[in-house]
Amino acid sequence: MTVDIASIAPAGASYEPGDGVVGRIVIDRPNDSVNSIDPPLIAALFGAVAAARAARPRGLVLASAKPDTFSGGADLKLLSIWPSAAELTEASRAMQRLCDEIAALPCTSVAALNGSALAGGYELALACDWRVAADTPELRVGLPEVQLGLIPAAGGTQRLARLVGLPRALDLILGARRLSARRALRAGLVDELAQPAVLERAAYDRALKGAKREPAGGRSALERAATFVAPARALALRQARARLMKETRGHYPAPPRVLDALAIGLARGMPAGLDAEARAFGELATSDVARNLIALFFLTTRQRRASSEGLPRADAPRDVAVVGAGLMGSGIAQAAAVAGMTVRMRDVDDAALARGLGAVRALTTEASRKGAIERRESARVIARVSGTTDYSGFARAELVIEAVFEELGLKRRVLGELEAATRDDAVIASNTSALPIAEIATGARRPERVVGMHFFSPVHRMPLVEVVRTERAEPWAVARVVAAANALGTTVIVVRDGPGFYTTRILGLMLGEATHLLEQGARIEDVDRAMTAFGWPVGPLALIDEVGLAVARHAGDTVAAAAGIDAPRNAVALLAEAGLEGKRGGAGFYLYGGRRRVPNPRVYELLGAAPAATPPDVAERLTALFVNAAVRCLDEGVLRSAGDGDLGAVLGLGFPPFLGGPFRYADARGAALVERLRALAASAGARYEPAASLASGRRFFS
Ligand code: NAI
Repeated sequence: MTVDIASIAPAGASYEPGDGVVGRIVIDRPNDSVNSIDPPLIAALFGAVAAARAARPRGLVLASAKPDTFSGGADLKLLSIWPSAAELTEASRAMQRLCDEIAALPCTSVAALNGSALAGGYELALACDWRVAADTPELRVGLPEVQLGLIPAAGGTQRLARLVGLPRALDLILGARRLSARRALRAGLVDELAQPAVLERAAYDRALKGAKREPAGGRSALERAATFVAPARALALRQARARLMKETRGHYPAPPRVLDALAIGLARGMPAGLDAEARAFGELATSDVARNLIALFFLTTRQRRASSEGLPRADAPRDVAVVGAGLMGSGIAQAAAVAGMTVRMRDVDDAALARGLGAVRALTTEASRKGAIERRESARVIARVSGTTDYSGFARAELVIEAVFEELGLKRRVLGELEAATRDDAVIASNTSALPIAEIATGARRPERVVGMHFFSPVHRMPLVEVVRTERAEPWAVARVVAAANALGTTVIVVRDGPGFYTTRILGLMLGEATHLLEQGARIEDVDRAMTAFGWPVGPLALIDEVGLAVARHAGDTVAAAAGIDAPRNAVALLAEAGLEGKRGGAGFYLYGGRRRVPNPRVYELLGAAPAATPPDVAERLTALFVNAAVRCLDEGVLRSAGDGDLGAVLGLGFPPFLGGPFRYADARGAALVERLRALAASAGARYEPAASLASGRRFFS
């Protein structure tokens, strides 16, 4: 066994006797603002707990010395320090022993959460008798490990279920929830809120006067029964497992291991539960799925800096304007207002404007109902958005985002109007989904300040913005758009201009290929089902219906023309010409009249194809085409990096996260993917010809 905590030089935590009545253990990992838990910190915490035991105070406060974080959880570098499953299991056991020692102290212990306590950080807090949290808006607590393909493995599954009951623990852990201080109080994850200035005092008082505590297993009799009564517990676990399999289709191994650890621990006792946790952690942490999810997590956290690489420093704009108050425009306006920006929004008439402002209000009210923004703040958000049917107020804007209908002529005309209505140093961004920005800017007086800012729908839920850079765009203009998108809290990729840029181009090719399969006899529902079983969130044909056939046709034509695919009479065009609109109109590839959608038989008539057998490998084949198109974007310089490509595909298009993204998928499949593409190129057409860097055997990540 290579994990020997005793041999590691301790650093980052110490015991302070204080007034001798209530002692403190202070976590202060050197050179790390979030107190990530690493081997020296674990060693130091063991020492601090031993010192506390020896000092025999009446109470103990566990606190952080960082200004606004308690602890963000394990340092993920652990996974490379201890690369084997056996070592990681041992590391988990070490953390479990540490938490057990804290829990076993004879004095009353209180965690003082001055800021976020997540994953291992919250597990340390769970080992204390009580938790007091600072009442600050940024603070989050929870056990979100499953998001990285891991499980809480410092006793978190066991202690949380015993504290708040099994049903709530399942919801929190499987949902990877991070609760605000107030929600955490309501859910029982913390026991008291205190103003930041008096947090330590509140923790001190509780440590002095509070008693040791036996966790109750939830507040209601029902919760306690589902936790401690075997048949009720079995039912709760069975239901959770069924829900899980439906949602994850077995692609994510961590959530079922959470259920296992809970089932074992609640039936056979804490030690057995801890053992299940530790074993699961070792196996999961060395799995491909966790590696891929963690790689995506690192890409996302680094992207803020990466997205502005090579660009001048820029501040996010304070004043923005939006043209077009439709689905996208109102969503963008609302997101900007949430980020604190003042927004002026224009549409052509009062009715359209009123709809847009109504949408801003509805989105904001919904966000406050869900607790994403405070109620008082929601009124301010709504007040930050004002409307107009002319361009009044546009002269103040530092950034204007155009989101009118997807028509080149209209977008050019609106751009001309904007050049007249805005300051010369304002940046004008188009939210087109496929049109080349350079074409929109043809004829512009100052094309150097025209940039693409491609949002995804629905704006308030989609975490990506694709910033499109033309050859003529000035770096300061691109930088301002990147800064704006970062300020909205989205992840940003910067791509080169062209038809469909990166995301619409690769998605469009894959959707086109899906319709092509129908012409060859595949069944609508089989194609979609194969793709969702593979891990895509929706099937390609259902997605076309969602987007609408007219829009999909337009984007598809733009992308196909650029890719040299000559398909004037493709399925989408045929359906659109026959008057089918997609989901909004009630009919597209599916009929939406009844309770459940059903495949639309007219599609086969229009295509002149009889539905026969669907090839068994459709999902793998469509995914291969998608991945190949992504690699081509890197080869052609549309993408700046493979990391941008993975983020764009996962966050913008729903590429299955457990595969890490198209580039990580290409690395994982290696030569087999190239062989497959070559075979498909021979049998199905040159569009499958492997991209140059795939053919040359390049690896995208080491
Ligand atoms: P929409 O039809 O919901 O809204 C367009 C709005 O623009 C309408 O309210 C219309 O009255 C207004 N408008 C038209 N001409 C105008 C003018 N001269 N001045 C001011 N307003 C004008 O369309 P949606 O879905 O919001 O799309 C807008 C843009 O966003 C399009 O370019 C679309 O391709 C793009 N986009 C759409 C996505 C989607 O999922 N719907 C995703 C990403 C981009």
